[in-house]
Amino acid sequence: MKSFHAPLYEKLEHHANTNPASFHVPGHHNGKSLQFFLQGKDQLKDITDRFNPIMEIDLTEISSTDDLHHPEGPIKEAQRLAAKCFGSDDTYFLVGGSTSGNLALLLTVCKPGETIIVQRNVHKSIINGLKLAGAKAVFLTPQIDESSGLATIPSLEQVCDALLLYPEAKAVFLTNPNYYGISIKLDHYVEAVHRIGIPLLVDEAHGAHYGLHPELPESALAAGADAVVQSTHKTLPALTMGAMLHVQGNRLDTEELRQSLAMIQSSSPSFPIMASLDISRAMVQALGFEMFQPALDAVHSFKRWVNDENMIISVMRWGEASTVTGLRQLDPLRVLLYDQSGQLSGFELLKELEQYGCWAEMADSRYVVLVMGVHTNDSEIEKLKVAVVSIHNKYKNNYNIVDSHQKNSKLTVTTISLNDKIAIGAPVSFSRRNIDDSEIVIRKLRECEGLHSAQMIVPYPPGIPLLYPGEKLTTEIIDQIENLASAGAKFQGVEDITLTTIKVFLNGKKE
Ligand SMILES: Cc1ncc(COP(=O)(O)O)c(C=O)c1O
Repeated sequence: MKSFHAPLYEKLEHHANTNPASFHVPGHHNGKSLQFFLQGKDQLKDITDRFNPIMEIDLTEISSTDDLHHPEGPIKEAQRLAAKCFGSDDTYFLVGGSTSGNLALLLTVCKPGETIIVQRNVHKSIINGLKLAGAKAVFLTPQIDESSGLATIPSLEQVCDALLLYPEAKAVFLTNPNYYGISIKLDHYVEAVHRIGIPLLVDEAHGAHYGLHPELPESALAAGADAVVQSTHKTLPALTMGAMLHVQGNRLDTEELRQSLAMIQSSSPSFPIMASLDISRAMVQALGFEMFQPALDAVHSFKRWVNDENMIISVMRWGEASTVTGLRQLDPLRVLLYDQSGQLSGFELLKELEQYGCWAEMADSRYVVLVMGVHTNDSEIEKLKVAVVSIHNKYKNNYNIVDSHQKNSKLTVTTISLNDKIAIGAPVSFSRRNIDDSEIVIRKLRECEGLHSAQMIVPYPPGIPLLYPGEKLTTEIIDQIENLASAGAKFQGVEDITLTTIKVFLNGKKE
């Protein structure tokens, strides 16, 4: 192991060891206020045991620590080391997750009324960022990987077409990888966006570990993206909310970015969270590739075992062929479990796994997504195997793989064939203004051509917003909604779940 150096953490540790008398915030005063209250209350001792070690290093901006918004000491050094480790020019620690990075980036690149190109399937922080910025979004329809029915980023061709159609766009914002660990290699996207002279921003929330082992996909930074947001807390050992924003090159206004971050983030950021970012980076540097090898070995052996056992609970096998354009990359540390017999939805399988003490990251109508950590070892994998065998035994008698394939394919194919026709949407204006009831009317869907939707329409599957409020209903979109509804898609959060009727703006316009 190379040497382990985490300057921010070390500074906090040193301060805690000096038995400081604290006359500053936070109010727990290095945990002493909590101890004072809990003294003699043995039944509450576990509170002290759990919180005290953290509170001892939960400091504020005093002269021996630093200020996240004007770093000059250990935070500056920790961020500099992170930039060197992950390959950026500058790295900013985020204490509000990737959410805060996405918000800050949108505020940085878009002034009110300015246009940005984004994909339809984005995290809500991007939509909230568009609202805060008052920006206009040109939505691109993602590509769907036919074997899994899962959405990735839009094709390169579509991005290029959108750049031609909307030369006023200030940036392109992609989300890569998706929640399932599928990503597309970004180097050609970077070239295309840079040819226009604007930045490519990437929400890489699920890829903080990318590029850190030869088996892991290439990172967006290595592909040349200008700004990359990563949830360090999702795939590296940082505390929840710990994330990083990496930037490189000169296409982003750094001063604007700093101001946006200061607007979005607390003036009293959590030092334990920032120290955990510093520790995560120090671990990566100290261990190198070795950090991921045990987990990768454990996952590979689990996948081989599932293959050999031929049970109804299976691991998604991607195969060589991909229906998406661009080089598909898969995160080996994400495992997608599903029931081949079609008896259990992903949601139900997740509940079954929980009965055996196996807690998954998330589920959808088909898959359960397991996120493996750097610690994942054979004993945890054994627990997972016990769960999988038990679930198999419970449901094996109704095994009918053919049926389930037929059941699952109808919806996916319908989705794909129609998506092409609405690939690039017209710009949609976002603002923080709430829609007033007096502005909207409920109409029959078929009679809404040319009107603007006053609601969001999200069919499940695939869970990709088909319409954002303010988007125009074209014949293609109306056809697609009807086709999806008749193929069995569910539309959550709408009053008329059959979508025979829809809320539209009264005057046909959103303004
Ligand atoms: C694609 C994507 N971007 C951003 C976020 C927000 O990340 P965070 O929880 O770190 O704020 C998430 C959260 O799951 C996400 O899936």
